[in-house]
Parts: sequence; structure tokens; C-alpha cells
Amino acid sequence: MAIEVAALPLPPSADPSKFADFGREVKGVNPGTLTQEQFKEIERLLYKHSALLFRDVDLTPEQQYALTKAFDPASESYGHGNNKTESTKKSILHPDLKTIPRVPQVQLIGNGMVYDHEGLAEAKLKHPSHTTFHKTRVSPEDEEKGYTRFYRWHIDAALYDLSPPKVTTLYGITVPKGPAQVVRYDDGTGDELSVPLGTTAFVSGKTMFEILPPELKSLAVRSKVKYAPHPYVWMAPARANSTGLGIETEGLELPPEELPPWEESRQKTFPVLWKNPVTGDSHFEVHPCGAAELLVDPLPEGAKREGALYPDGAHITDLGEVRALLYKMQRPAIAPSLVYPHDWHERDLVLFHNRGVLHTVVGAFKPDQVRAFHQCNLAASDDPAGPTPEDVKKWA
Ligand SMILES: [Fe+2]
Repeated sequence: MAIEVAALPLPPSADPSKFADFGREVKGVNPGTLTQEQFKEIERLLYKHSALLFRDVDLTPEQQYALTKAFDPASESYGHGNNKTESTKKSILHPDLKTIPRVPQVQLIGNGMVYDHEGLAEAKLKHPSHTTFHKTRVSPEDEEKGYTRFYRWHIDAALYDLSPPKVTTLYGITVPKGPAQVVRYDDGTGDELSVPLGTTAFVSGKTMFEILPPELKSLAVRSKVKYAPHPYVWMAPARANSTGLGIETEGLELPPEELPPWEESRQKTFPVLWKNPVTGDSHFEVHPCGAAELLVDPLPEGAKREGALYPDGAHITDLGEVRALLYKMQRPAIAPSLVYPHDWHERDLVLFHNRGVLHTVVGAFKPDQVRAFHQCNLAASDDPAGPTPEDVKKWA
């Protein structure tokens, strides 16, 4: 049977014109047992469409690891390292991650108590909640009415020492049923988004770039982000803004001397725009929570200076300024009409191009709502490619 693709089911909130290329459901192929030829086609489809959905999938952890690794055969360790180091124990990511003993590159994530699962006698899982991460929270009364928030928009990446995974695979094994929730942005815009319970929400990094006005496109194509050392430890005491798209600047980040041992040579500096290996498109890929500094190149020769931001380049180290600039560039792309909130069914497998989208956990479960997912991503064997000199010329 040939590989067939169909559009993803979009919610009424989504603007279909902005999702023409985004996301496909793939049918007629078993993602756990792909031939080399089928894999090549899936790989091309993933980079072209950013997210692929397979329904009614049976997938062992071994198969999931093999599928994930096929996108980057030289990659080996889990995207955040081996989970055993001092830095990960203090990290804000630590409580969310449990490892499948047989296949430590595959993580068990979800909510509630899970028993006798793939060699784990029992695991207590906790769906991350905005109430422990955001500076402000939805009141318990409003939570009871079904209001919630995006938790944290991000790229799956250690952002220190390791390179961002190319692909993340998410396999829904146990999916609790429940009423839809309403994401409140709580940023003065009045924006709201109705979402399925426990959705994973995605936005396109390509769209994030495309909808920017020319002066911000020019800034984006000329900029690199330097991430903090051990960013998840660094940001642990700090609190996020109400859209989950970055951190409030209150000086709460850990000072360098209180971080686990680090070296500047292992800090990561990435271009703001990452080049898609198949389409050549530029995707705006910044993890706003971990960003510490912005390095802006001057305008190239011959570019129009009028109205340009930082025409002579800049090295911006003021955290508030860095975050304000990133927020200005990223917030438009998380507008309700640009978000794809996946409506999880049991045995859904979603592959997403981690270097082409941003995503977030959403919503809140009650302790008895059991959710079990397998997640796999692998620190890549290379860093993402940035804009070419032609891209800079085109957009700067
Ligand atoms: Fe993630």
C-alpha cells in the first residue's frame, strides 16, 4: 500500500490559510517497521510539513527509539543528556521525566499513577502545571470552570553542550477523556483558545518568521541568541509570563557561581532563524526562557538603513531588553488562529520537526486522570544551520 497523506483536522479557531503546508496525517504505512525507502519519504514529509500524525499505532519503545534515531543516525543520547548528572537533578525538567529502563532514550511522561509499565513497577507522573511556573496563575475557581494556560513554549533542547534534536516522537498510550479547556493568554489582549483536554499545542516557526514586519525580519535574519549555561537550572527560581512564552525579568535567575560547573565554550549560540533542510525555508527557532544575550550583525552592504533596527549591529546583554525583543517577534505567532492544538487519541503517534516548530504542554489534569505517553528525542549530531548570505541579503 502506498503512503497516503491527508490534512490534519484543524479546529475552528485555526486560520486554514496559515496551515496549508503545516501538518499531515500519514496513512498506509506502519511507522514501527518502515523500509529504508518508506523512511526517506516520511523524512521528506516531516521536514516539509513540520508535524506528522499516525493513528492506531502499535509501537514498542525499541521501535520508537529506532524511528527517532533514523532521522539522525549519528545521534545517541536523550536530547537532554543522560538524566543522571547533577545539573539535571536541579533542573526544572527533572520531575517531568521518567526513563524506560530497557530503552533509556525513551521517556515516560504524563499524569497520575502508572503501574507495571514496560519494566517500571510503578511511576508517579505529573503533568506540568502553569501554577508552579508562571508568575501569576488562573485562580482555582476559574480552573474549576475549565480555564487554563499554555505551560511553556519551547524547543526540545538542552541548550548547553548538546545540539537540539531534529525530531521528537510522541506516542499517546493512555489518554484521559474530559471536557475541553480554555487557554487564557492573560496579557491584556483578551485572547483565548478552546483546546482539547491535555492537548499538545504547536506553532510553526516558519509562520513565526513570515508574519513579521520587514524591520523585525531584518533583525531576525541578522541575530543570534546566546543561551545561559545550564539554562534549566539557571531559570529554575524565575517565573514565566502569562502566555508561557518567556520569563519575567525580576532578577531571580541563579547567579553563575551557583550553577553546576560550566564552561563558556559549552554554551550554545544559535542563529534566530534555522534553515529547513528540505524546503530551504527559514524557521524562527528561539527557546525564549533560556535566552540570555542577543548578537546582532550589522546590516549588509547596500541594505536600506532607514527604519532598520540596530543597523550597525549590537551585542545585547540586558536580559529585559533581550526578552522584550524576542517577545515582540514571537508573540504574534502564538495568536489563537495560528496554534494547532492536537486532539490526542490513544495510540496516536506524532512526529514533529523540533527545529521547525515551537510547542507546549497545555492544561491541567486531576490526579486521577491517568495519562501515559512515550517521548523520544536525541541530541543531534550537528547544530542547526542558519541563514545563508543570500537569505541575509533578501531579508536584511
Ligand atoms: Fe517538549
